[in-house]
Amino acid sequence: MKKQWWKESIVYQIYPRSFMDTNGDGIGDLKGIQTKLDYLKELGVDVIWLSPVYKSPNDDNGYDISDYYNIMDEFGTIEDWEELLFEVHKREIKLIMDLVVNHTSDEHPWFIQSRQSKDNPYRDYYIWRKGENGVEPNNWESFFSGSAWEYDENTKEYYLHIFSKKQPDLNWENPKVRDEIYKMMKWWLDKGIDGFRMDVINFISKDSDLPNAPSLHGKQYASGSRYFANGPKVHQFLQEMHNRVLSLYAIMTVGETPDVTPDEAALYVGENLNELNMVFQFEHMDIDSGAGGKWDVKPFHLKTFKQVMTKWQKGLEDRGWNSLYLNNHDQPRMVSRFGNDKKYRVESAKMLATCLHMMKGTPFIYQGEEIGMTNVAFNTIDEYKDLETLNWYREREKEGVEDASTLMQLIYKKSRDNARTPMQWNDHKHAGFSNVTPWLKINPNYKEINVKEALEDKDSVFYYYKKLIQLRKEHPIIVYGAYDLLLENHEQIYAFTRTYDEEKLLIILNFSEKSPTFELPKTMVYQSAELLIGNYKVNTTQRIDSFNLQPYESRVYRMH
Ligand code: NOJ
Repeated sequence: MKKQWWKESIVYQIYPRSFMDTNGDGIGDLKGIQTKLDYLKELGVDVIWLSPVYKSPNDDNGYDISDYYNIMDEFGTIEDWEELLFEVHKREIKLIMDLVVNHTSDEHPWFIQSRQSKDNPYRDYYIWRKGENGVEPNNWESFFSGSAWEYDENTKEYYLHIFSKKQPDLNWENPKVRDEIYKMMKWWLDKGIDGFRMDVINFISKDSDLPNAPSLHGKQYASGSRYFANGPKVHQFLQEMHNRVLSLYAIMTVGETPDVTPDEAALYVGENLNELNMVFQFEHMDIDSGAGGKWDVKPFHLKTFKQVMTKWQKGLEDRGWNSLYLNNHDQPRMVSRFGNDKKYRVESAKMLATCLHMMKGTPFIYQGEEIGMTNVAFNTIDEYKDLETLNWYREREKEGVEDASTLMQLIYKKSRDNARTPMQWNDHKHAGFSNVTPWLKINPNYKEINVKEALEDKDSVFYYYKKLIQLRKEHPIIVYGAYDLLLENHEQIYAFTRTYDEEKLLIILNFSEKSPTFELPKTMVYQSAELLIGNYKVNTTQRIDSFNLQPYESRVYRMH
């Protein structure tokens, strides 16, 4: 497979609202990001991905855009953004922007026009349908609860919104919509950005019949994703986008694609298929959910995790490139979800980082992950801000099946606000994020878990990440080596190898607080084993045929 800079890179995701506030409104801003670039340089990241910074009424924190050519008031101005880009590039870091084009805000001028009359020239920029006898055009459920259709009194029709009703879906069948999007993409690329992360990009082509979805347990609404995820024209649209925009620039692209299998992903990222470089798949994010979706919480099983990760590592082998992530702004914090955020917080954060950074693909770090930030548990629902969480809570409260404390327990596990509490910079009031009360409460553990503390402790999670990142620069095998699973059925240990020409790495990870014995498969012959990185102090000259692992221990050996 071809060598590419984005395969060798490490990406750091910034959720600007929660990163750093400099103008004293309790909301992060672009100037705040600028003040922290040296910190990111110290960590060693190559690329920054900015979650949306465009003008937005913030129904969904910027994923509802009302002007693609301007910056959200709370975050600053286009001049601030230009300066940020300059400062990022000065440090030899790249910048990729979030591209949210499955939908706009309902306050976008296109939608304001579109809803005015059935013959408005912008009517067909969105998906409008008549309902029948006061019933929506179909039974699709919005990702944020309730129907995916909103009735508009003015023209007596419904518009489709698979996210919130303030996020109407664009009609990609309309060539004018596509022209507008490509024009806007070029406008940003001509400013010198280095690529895009594309929001739910595999949802842009809907089955034009808009069929009803099979409903679960006689529920009124059901997920329609089988009719819009990887829809009929998605590859046609992306190839057009590639041809008209992406191919003209030396950039990286990563598409967010829920509901893809490795075979489907290969169609988006296939090396010669001219669409995207990588996709974010969701299978490993779904392994602790049941048939009822994300709030139907199931226990985590390492064996399933290994199966899913291996399926992706092997599934795209020699075909395309994986993105690697264990959390982001939509997911719980990885150390709380897959590790242990109490007694073994530091150990398990390092172990999970080792797992991710030693796989084949481009690792994505989500802000705060590098200091082991954890989930949060606010006392009351009023302290939550995420509309997905709030809508779901209200709906379940209305149904009245579970009591409030059961609902709160689920929120503690799965709410997106777990990842959105402000970045913990130091142990001062408001964690050094702001000098006023922030838009979302700080996690009370900021006194112990913060950047200042991490930078002062040479054994911190931060320095472990820094070392992992350096190792990637020193050993091409970490980027390009083939992945193979060992000990498939082990309940606590995740072990795998990476192989590149004559070289071999062995990665051993204990996903438990027990002390399981690692037994090296007899087929692996070696002279000596050199420890490249580990999260406990170990005797580096020992043989590694059989030994006990400490809780959440991780070791990476180079086999000679
Ligand atoms: C995925 C984004 O990551 C999420 O935050 C957002 O709510 C939806 N897409 C809708 O844009």
